Amino acid sequence: MTIKPVRKAVFPVAGQGTRFLPATKAMPKEMLPVVDRPLIQYAVDEARDAGIEEFIFVTGRAKSAIEDHFDRSSELERSLEERGKLDALASIMDGVLEPGQISYTRQQQPLGLGHAVWCARNLVGDEPFAVLLADDLILAAPGCLKQMVETYNRIGGNVVAVEDVPREHTDRYGILDVSNDDGKIAEAKGLVEKPAPADAPSTLSIIGRYILQPEVFRELDRQEAGVGGEIQITDAIARTIGEVTFNGLRFDGRRFDCGNQLGFIEANIAFGLARDDISRELREVLKSY
Ligand code: G1P
Repeated sequence: MTIKPVRKAVFPVAGQGTRFLPATKAMPKEMLPVVDRPLIQYAVDEARDAGIEEFIFVTGRAKSAIEDHFDRSSELERSLEERGKLDALASIMDGVLEPGQISYTRQQQPLGLGHAVWCARNLVGDEPFAVLLADDLILAAPGCLKQMVETYNRIGGNVVAVEDVPREHTDRYGILDVSNDDGKIAEAKGLVEKPAPADAPSTLSIIGRYILQPEVFRELDRQEAGVGGEIQITDAIARTIGEVTFNGLRFDGRRFDCGNQLGFIEANIAFGLARDDISRELREVLKSY
């Protein structure tokens, strides 16, 4: 088996972010900051750190702030330089990608995560690729995708990040029907999207990091709606099992569901405490509650 390297990553960012209204009325949810960086930048940095060379955004209406964020801003750069604010200048230069490394396509209708990934098919082409959902913020060193790439480079096929969730939460995730489990890597013979707790084949759930083989596009081409009337990436991946191996990696690190308020607040605390410049003072602030 030849294992082709993962060079491209897809970032589905077309979602409306209704759970964060009114904050997301005029701002994409992916631009919500954790400490001082937007969620999407954490995902892009994680992908860069994993060796990704091409960054494909599947965006939508009212998401232009994301494009601006990853672009140069010569006026701001010049002003920071003139005022000697070199740390601030470094912080904005750090997020800038090389010309041509980043591309954007639009998901014109909200037809589901599978549909969003399918919108990137021509930009991905016939090679393995990663998918990162910026809502799932992961505090880990090395980064979660890097851990996955290391695993993928040994075993190939489809590799996703997984973690055990309380049984009452299985209806929020893609769940593995496990056939083999060594405690670190779980192989699945099937996948179910958002099963009711009583029907879930396990409690091992997919977190928003995927390394996928291009065969998944053939299944997504069918445009078949699944649970919630949406085209599900989980269903398309499930249909390739047998042809493409499917393994879940229990990554080392802590994941925060920034798609809901509590997870987002907790992420700000955890990432704040992980920062040398503010952790001591933040600890004091927290004690006062
Ligand atoms: C999506 C996927 C689901 C996965 C989850 C991870 O669901 O459909 O399989 O477990 O992301 O966060 P969503 O959170 O978009 O409803």
